[in-house]
Amino acid sequence: MKKNLTQYLIEQERQNQNVPTELRLLIETIARTCKAIAQAVNKGALGNVLGSQDTENVQGEIQKKLDVISNQMLLDANEWIGCLAGMASEEMELPHPIPAHYPTGDYLLLFDPLDGSSNIDVNVSIGTIFSILRQPENAKGRAANEQDFLQAGTQQVAAGYAVYGPQTMLILSIGQGVVGFTLDRETGSWLLTQENIRIPEETQEFAINMSNMRHWEAPVKRYIDECLAGKEGPLGKNYNTRWIASMVADVHRILNRGGIFMYPRDHRESVRHGKLRLMYEANPMSFLVEQAGGASVDGSQRILDLQPEHLHQRTGVILGSKKEVERLQQYHQAAN
Ligand code: AHG
Ligand code: MN
Ligand code: MN
Repeated sequence: MKKNLTQYLIEQERQNQNVPTELRLLIETIARTCKAIAQAVNKGALGNVLGSQDTENVQGEIQKKLDVISNQMLLDANEWIGCLAGMASEEMELPHPIPAHYPTGDYLLLFDPLDGSSNIDVNVSIGTIFSILRQPENAKGRAANEQDFLQAGTQQVAAGYAVYGPQTMLILSIGQGVVGFTLDRETGSWLLTQENIRIPEETQEFAINMSNMRHWEAPVKRYIDECLAGKEGPLGKNYNTRWIASMVADVHRILNRGGIFMYPRDHRESVRHGKLRLMYEANPMSFLVEQAGGASVDGSQRILDLQPEHLHQRTGVILGSKKEVERLQQYHQAAN
């Protein structure tokens, strides 16, 4: 019989003392909320969840109804459980304080409630990404402020995502490799279906939004030109390309069969520091990718080592199969 999420977490605690009860409750609550978000996603037009709101988020992006619904579901489910000192989300300008009538705890939760928003209305895979940090020692016992969240990705105690695709899956790392659960819709359980996800070191598949080519920095242009040159070019192999425009779906493919994903910083003013958000997208995904044997850099350095300066900071992202990421990183170094 397959293990469920609770069993996996309890066994991890018994073996490694790395999942105290509070952390388990937090991860279980996030997972349960992802199940509820999956239900809402599934209903589509029947649940009146498609289309946009009239509102913009702090990033200046028009919010989709599902961005707002899933953000609220995560806040409502997690604020009362007593495990958190605060929450921060891509969809909210400021951290969400735990209401005074609920107990607090030692963890901080950050999330991208709905990743791949442009795919909602066209029925392509989307997801939820989350990152868990500890409230800093010197801040314990008080409500979290923005500063408390600004910790390097190496400090994450857990990270993961749910992908709402042909199957609904939860991919998780608590710092002991990466595991995958599949939602059994008949019993409502997350069942362990992948015990040790490893990214192949080499790849012949790349993911990048090619329409931005004219804006790229020289090292990215060089690498993609070499990929496109195929077997006759310097890399000596034919490459395949994929771009889903949902980071969760692209990363999920890479965790399963390798590849390289790039959303590099480029010459446009708005993408000078990258497009993806460090705290809600790049850090949790980099944690998973490294835990699965891959690599993740911003073009200059390892993403998990970046010291965040703002909650909504953006970063260039190059992640996936180790050898390919290292090659592109070398091209960046050679260009400096
Ligand atoms: P979000 O829907 O949370 O704003 O994230 C979308 C992100 C990411 O998931 C994806 O890789 C990228 O934006 C797609 O960007 P383009 O539309 O520029 O290709
Ligand atoms: Mn996103
Ligand atoms: Mn989002």
